[in-house]
Amino acid sequence: MLTVALTKGRILGTTVEMLQAAGFSPDEDVFDTRKYIVPDRSGTVRYLLAKPVDVPTYVEHGAADIGFVGKDVLYEAQADLHELLDLGIGVCRMVVAGPAGVDVAGVRRVATKYHRYAHDYFRKHGRQIEVIDLHGSVELAPLTGLADCIVDIVETGQTLRENGLVVHAELARVSTRVVANRRSYQLRAAEVDDFIDRLRNRVKEGVR
Ligand code: PRP
Repeated sequence: MLTVALTKGRILGTTVEMLQAAGFSPDEDVFDTRKYIVPDRSGTVRYLLAKPVDVPTYVEHGAADIGFVGKDVLYEAQADLHELLDLGIGVCRMVVAGPAGVDVAGVRRVATKYHRYAHDYFRKHGRQIEVIDLHGSVELAPLTGLADCIVDIVETGQTLRENGLVVHAELARVSTRVVANRRSYQLRAAEVDDFIDRLRNRVKEGVR
C-alpha cells in the first residue's frame, strides 16, 4: 500500500477532486475528520493529512512514499526527493509586495515566511536585507512599520487590494506538485508509476 501525504488547507478540495477523477476515494470526509491517517476505498493507498510545510519532511524520510505540496513549500524546504508531476492546481504567484510608494531598490526589512525566495531575489538585485520571520497575515507587517515590504504568495490579489498594497515584482509561478521519496521511487517503481500515470492522465484531460 502506498502512503500519500496530502496538504491540509486551501488546496485539499481540488486535490481530492483530482484523486477522485483518477479513481481514488478517501474512505472518510477528509475535511471533517480529526484522524491523520485515512484509508482509500481502493485499498491500494492510504493518506496522511499533514500541514503543508511538513509534507516534504514526511516524504524525504520515507514516512510517506508520495506527497502533494505547493512549489513554494518545496522550494523553501530543499528536501531530497523526486518532483514528478505539476498538477496545475493551486496556481498562484510569489511576489514582492508593499505600499505603492515603496522603492524596492531601497528596501531593508522584508517580512515573509519564504526566506529563500526573499534572499534569492534581493541578492540578485544587490540588496542585503533583513528578513522578518512571520508565519501568516504577513500583509500586516508593512502596514504597521514592521517591514518595508513582504514576499508572499498572491492568488486572487484580494488580500493585497483590501490592505492597500501592490505587487512590485513577480518572483515565480507556484502550483501543486507531486513528489516521491527517492527509495520508494526505486523500490516501488510500479506502484508509484501507476499512481502518477493515473493522475497525469487527469491533468492532461484538464480535470481541475
Ligand atoms: C495566503 C497568502 C496571502 C493570501 C493571498 O494566505 O499568504 O495572505 O493567501 O491570497 P489572495 O491573493 O487570494 O488574497 P493564507 O490565506 O494561506 O493565510 P496566511 O496569511 O495565514 O498564510
